[in-house]
Amino acid sequence: MSTKVTVLIIGCGIAGPVLANFLKRKGYDPIVFEKVSKLGDVGASLMLMPNGLKVLNLVGVADEIEEASIPLEGFLDHTSKGELLGSSDLPSSFRSKYGLPAMGVKRTDLNLKLRDMVANLKVDVREGWELENIEETDDSVTAHFNAGRSVTGSFLIGCDGIKAATRRILLRKEGLREDQPLFTGLTQTAGLSRTPETLKEKACLRNWFGEGVHMIAYPVSPETTSWALTLPEGEGNEADWGLCSPEETTARKEKLHANVSSWTDRATKELIQEATRLIKFGIFDREEMKSDQWHSRRCVLVGDAAHPTSPHLGQGANQALEDCFHLSHSLPYLAPESDTYEMDLGKLGPHLVSIFQAYAHKRQPRTSALVKGARAQGQTRVVTTGPEDCKKRNEKVATGWKDVETIAAKFDALCREPFQSVPS
Ligand SMILES: Cc1cc2nc3c(=O)[nH]c(=O)nc-3n(C[C@H](O)[C@H](O)[C@H](O)COP(=O)(O)OP(=O)(O)OC[C@H]3O[C@@H](n4cnc5c(N)ncnc54)[C@H](O)[C@@H]3O)c2cc1C
Ligand SMILES: *[C@@H]1O[C@H](CO)[C@@H](O)[C@H](O)[C@H]1NC(C)=O
Repeated sequence: MSTKVTVLIIGCGIAGPVLANFLKRKGYDPIVFEKVSKLGDVGASLMLMPNGLKVLNLVGVADEIEEASIPLEGFLDHTSKGELLGSSDLPSSFRSKYGLPAMGVKRTDLNLKLRDMVANLKVDVREGWELENIEETDDSVTAHFNAGRSVTGSFLIGCDGIKAATRRILLRKEGLREDQPLFTGLTQTAGLSRTPETLKEKACLRNWFGEGVHMIAYPVSPETTSWALTLPEGEGNEADWGLCSPEETTARKEKLHANVSSWTDRATKELIQEATRLIKFGIFDREEMKSDQWHSRRCVLVGDAAHPTSPHLGQGANQALEDCFHLSHSLPYLAPESDTYEMDLGKLGPHLVSIFQAYAHKRQPRTSALVKGARAQGQTRVVTTGPEDCKKRNEKVATGWKDVETIAAKFDALCREPFQSVPS
């Protein structure tokens, strides 16, 4: 019997394990390499939309997510003074329209679920392997890792996130030096807190717009709310980014309280007060790459590695999941038992580059538009140029919500992807 087609998957975040699942079931032999030596505590939370959840459903983890979380029922935007800017019940119709709702998840829970899911499929997951270099030939690719380790496979998929080594290496091979990611001038401090009573009546994604401060909050379980305060910060001062130590937490909370001291909704202050831990991020994105920079002959980029985004539209992970669906869909099924296996294999090699091309061509415009949209959304959220401009911003937000049809069309364009599902 022939050996299987080895696929080197770099990164065990969100896209990596999902692709490993798809490819394993299509007859490939994926190996997942993760630089972190023990996957565990990562970030705060994510809002999964029906487009992303549909893909997670295909790998069998949507049910578990639904059990732990709570379906989103609405959007609610307020000023910091408690004035309602707009609202929508659209999310309450997602399940009937798209088969799955929108749901907040704790990021750590999702990453561990995905890692366990691939481990159960007997996919080889190697933690503590950091990609350092890539060599390609006409019919294979060799990945070089830390500690002098190398593995050769048929092709390689870069799922290594915003700081991807795969992207840097692919660009370098074209003679391009990669620029640093762009600091958007904003930071986010995020926390997980017991849901305040006043927010329990309806599971909403809530935004509060203040002057130079923005807060977002949504439930990640019936009892827990994830929230984040977005603030401008001139320089990317990385010194106080990351997980806040328990000793510093009280002082940090006091500073955040000061930032919302004039706000009227008590729930905003309660969320900060109740946080079990705080984590602070600088917010970055990148200039878009041309679609032919998304791949080489034997390597292709997926998720944040291809299109890193700021989080203001909540689409980064959802788009990474769409990528996984489209890429695996365009790779042929390989059945080792079948009479045509040798032929299928022979055909795959020369076809890879056109498969990668078609995938990148399909995905690049949509993801680039969302990256730009997210950047603009961030700028709208955090207005620092005085009360007049804040008032204008508030009017703009309120006017946006009044155009019910445009809003519905915008969400439909997101949620109906990457495939139509039959509502159950
Ligand atoms: C504050 C914040 C809030 C967000 N909120 C949302 C949201 O609500 N909804 C949403 O859809 N998205 C959100 N995102 C975006 C989302 O987190 C990313 O888009 C998503 O995680 C991308 O998935 P990925 O698999 O491409 O990369 P990642 O999840 O980043 O995974 C990359 C993996 O590769 C590993 N790795 C890196 N380099 C190497 C190497 N050299 N060798 C081996 N392994 C390597 C990393 O350790 C990591 O495990 C948010 C992001 C931030 C920062
Ligand atoms: C937020 O608080 C910090 C101090 O912790 C302060 O420097 C900054 O100006 C505040 N920003 C706003 C918009 O209140």
